[in-house]
Amino acid sequence: MTVERTLSILKPDATRRNLTGQINARFEAAGLRLVAQKRLWLSRAQAEAFYAVHAQRPFYNDLCSFMTSGPVVVQVLEGGNAVARNREIMGATNPANAADGTIRKDFAESIEANSVHGSDSAENAAAEIAFFFSGIEIVG
Ligand code: CMP
Repeated sequence: MTVERTLSILKPDATRRNLTGQINARFEAAGLRLVAQKRLWLSRAQAEAFYAVHAQRPFYNDLCSFMTSGPVVVQVLEGGNAVARNREIMGATNPANAADGTIRKDFAESIEANSVHGSDSAENAAAEIAFFFSGIEIVG
């Protein structure tokens, strides 16, 4: 088992409904450690840059509007196979397809307001963590 770090975002629908503690408890119960965390209100430019990989997708504009509609919590999760483990805990992107007991099944409102983001590969995790955090802000 490889100890990894992954970037997680608690999205505006989660902060609006005061769900950050309940979601963090799921990560911790699954053995992931919160080794960095901060609450931000993303600017349009920040949201567009973070999701630049999706710039050509039809949902990009709405996604950036949603991600700037309220505060987010950005965080680094650390643990064994953290990237894949977090994706299991989150469930499928579309809550209609998410397995029972996952965060998105239990909390997401829609494919857009789906409560959480998690990196999809170790390579993207490194880039996404560096987007939000400097090294001294991550304390393992
Ligand atoms: P996330 O993991 O944050 O990465 C991109 C986000 O785009 C995704 O979660 C969804 O919340 C959002 N999104 C909106 N519409 C779609 C769609 N049709 N397909 C995939 N992602 C979508």
